[in-house]
This record gives sequence, C-alpha cells and structure tokens, in this order.
Amino acid sequence: MSQRWTPESWRGKPAQQMPDYPDRNALAAVETQLASFPPLVFAGEARSLKKALARVANGEAFLLQGGDCAESFAEHGANNIRDFFRVFLQMAVVLTYSGGSPVVKVGRIAGQFAKPRSSPTEKRDGQELPSYRGDIVNGIEFTPEARVPDPRRQIEAYRQSAATLNLLRAFAHGGYANLASVHQWMLGFVKDSPQSRRYMELADRISEALDFMRACGLDLESHPELRATDLYTSHEALLLGFEEAMTRIDSTSGDWYDTSGHMLWIGDRTRQPDHAHVEFCRGIKNPIGLKCGPSLKADELLRLIDILNPDNEPGRLTLIGRFGSEKVGEFLPALVRATKREGRKVVWSCDPMHGNTITSANGYKTRPFDRILSEVRDFFAVHTAEGSYAGGVHLEMTGQNVTECTGGARAITDADLNDRYHTFCDPRLNAEQSIELAFLVAELLKKERAAHAKPLPAAAGL
Ligand code: PEP
Ligand code: CO
Repeated sequence: MSQRWTPESWRGKPAQQMPDYPDRNALAAVETQLASFPPLVFAGEARSLKKALARVANGEAFLLQGGDCAESFAEHGANNIRDFFRVFLQMAVVLTYSGGSPVVKVGRIAGQFAKPRSSPTEKRDGQELPSYRGDIVNGIEFTPEARVPDPRRQIEAYRQSAATLNLLRAFAHGGYANLASVHQWMLGFVKDSPQSRRYMELADRISEALDFMRACGLDLESHPELRATDLYTSHEALLLGFEEAMTRIDSTSGDWYDTSGHMLWIGDRTRQPDHAHVEFCRGIKNPIGLKCGPSLKADELLRLIDILNPDNEPGRLTLIGRFGSEKVGEFLPALVRATKREGRKVVWSCDPMHGNTITSANGYKTRPFDRILSEVRDFFAVHTAEGSYAGGVHLEMTGQNVTECTGGARAITDADLNDRYHTFCDPRLNAEQSIELAFLVAELLKKERAAHAKPLPAAAGL
C-alpha cells in the first residue's frame, strides 16, 4: 500500500457494487460539473468530528449515528428532515441525561443515497431487471427505463444534500435545539405512548435543573452548549465517482477531504483491502467508518486498520460491528481482542440492524425489535468482558410513524407491516422504537460509565 494516493487512484483497482453506466460521456460530464460545485461540508468541521470521536475512542463520550437506510428524492421535504432531527435530539437527550455521557451526533443524512445490493438483478413475475441501487443511481420503479443508471441523478442528489444540510444547520444553530425546548421536541403521535411518559419525566427533570441554575444566578443564554448543538453528516462512500468529484484539498492543512459529508464509511460488501473503496478512503482525511460483519477475520481487520489508520490516530476510524443477535457473541470478541492486543485506537460501534433482517410471513423485509435490542445488549456485554469501551450505536431510523420493524412497546406484528411500510431499502426503527432503544442504551451506558469512572470533559453540552 505504499503506492501514491490520488483522488482517482481507486480507478486502478477492482471495485464491487459499482453501477454500469451505459453513457460514459454523460457520466464524465456530470463528474466534471460536480467537481466545480462548492463543497457541502468543510474540512474544519470534519476535523472537529474527528476530535469528538477521539473522545469516544478514549471512553469519554458516546457516538449516536443514525438515519435512513436510503434517502429518496420522493420523500425529500422539510417535515421529514425536522422529524428526524427532533427524534435524534430526543435520543441524544436521553443518552446524555440518563446515560450520563456527552453524545456525538452523526446523521445518516444529506448524502446517504447509494446502496450496495446482494444481487445485481431483481426478478419479478418472470421479468429480470437491474437492481435498484439508490436514487443517486437509478429509479426504484420496476421498469426497464427506471432501472438504467442515469448520471444526472448525481446532480439531484447533490442538490438535495445541500438543501438538507442547510436546514439541519439552521435547526442545530438557529434556536430549535435549545435545551429549554426539551418538552417541545415531543412528536405528536408519540404523546400517548409509554415512551412519551418516560421522556416527559426526563424533560421535567432537565427543566428543573435549568430553573435551578437560573435561580443560582447563572446566565444560561451565555452558554452556547445549551442553545445549540452539533449535528454531523455521514453516508456510505459507495459511488466513488461522485465521492472523487467532491474531494478537495483543504487550503489550511494541504490535506484531501471528501466534502460530501463529515464522515464516510466502507460497507461490509466493499471492504476488500486491495480494492477500490478501501483505496479511496485511505487517502481522505475525514473520519472513516468500517462495517465489520461475521466474515471479517481478525488478521484482515488489522490489515485494514494498517491501511486506513496507519498513524493510529484516535477518532480516525470507527469500527461498526453488524453481526446479528445470534452471532455478535461469537464473532465480536476476537476482533476486539485483536485491536486491544495491538494497541489500535478505534471507536467500537454497534449496528444492530443489518445482521437482523428477516422476511416476514407476509413477505416484508423486516427486523424484530427484540433482536435489535439483543444485539445491542450483547455488544455491551462483550466490551465489558473484554475490558474495552462500547462506544456507539449505528441505526436505521426515521422520525416518521412507519411500520417497518416488528415489536417494540406497541408490538407491531407482521400483519401491521402493511400499514405504513415506506422505506426505499431496509426497514427502519420508527420514532417510538428509536426512543425506546435510546432508553435501553442509556441504561447500558450508565453501567459502563460507572465501571470506567472517567470524569466528564469540560464544556460537554448536548
Ligand atoms: C447500510 O448501512 O445500509 C449497509 C448496506 O450496511 P452493510 O454494509 O453493513 O451491509
Ligand atoms: Co441498510
């Protein structure tokens, strides 16, 4: 791996999961146009996220990463973005207050469009067409026209990402995230649920604490940590032509940053050490995620860490385990042990979604809430047993009241899936299930932090 890296050096390597564009000239024209567009995020922000993740690697904070499996053009709108932001903030409040930990918030949003697929084609009623690869590549409709990869979709994905990011920045810094509004983040439909009671109790306690501080003479308005929050963006670095076009030299440091999102991750299907996706990610300075599934062996993980984080920089690399509730106890310990033994500074996060996908009796792709909880519990248990730090969760979730994952306090059944199954790819936790999960993670986190007994860093706001 000592060969020189450039934003296009991935083009000389084998690449999995890349679309086959019939019109290469149109593709090249789009990539040239994208390369002239302004960056979506700034290098300095990616560095701030790396610093925040370094605190997670050090056991001083917790990573909350989540959002759609696949963003779509059809569902793009202010309400969807606001509802996601609101439920994500609620989860962060639960984790910060009940879990007693600063929370680093990273959305799967403003760029999460390209999807790896288990099969290059899809068959329905005897007809075989190319698989849907996310709105940035082709259309979800099952017609030959829609399924042709169209490069112009990349321009639309850029536009949507910019608009989404613009609204997220306004929400995060324009007053919406003020901790004094903690009661108002309650979503209408969650109001009559067991989660809402729990959440409102917690919100009452936070309000009391704020009132107490005010009564003591503290000027809360002068504390930006209480008035605003940082929300970072992330997506899978899958469509490498798009990512290359968004990769720019940072004038401050002279380093390359992929300015399409703050954090980029490598999927479980594209993590071959000598292939294109690893090659691309090794050269950009953003924080990087690596999905780790059951087929990843400890020696291969160490090799990937050598390539992706040769300087052993804390915050650079987040390992996102996605084993499935039945496999996490079997496969995670060897990987944790290897990184510990070799002194590798990484964040360990848990994706309890992608190893727990099943097909329901009535044919829906779904995920039982119990299995999701079980993988999270086992993830914490493995880290307790190995003396390492369970640093975060990575979730597919939405602020909408969908019925895509079964179970949870409302006990969604197979038969209910038909009601509001809206995902463009994998099944997501709905708002209630997301908050329910946050309360469970907060309990586990509280125990973990008690065991680690580290003082909180200064200036740790929401
Ligand atoms: C995803 O995060 O949507 C995904 C495809 O995950 P994985 O690479 O872990 O299968
Ligand atoms: Co997914």
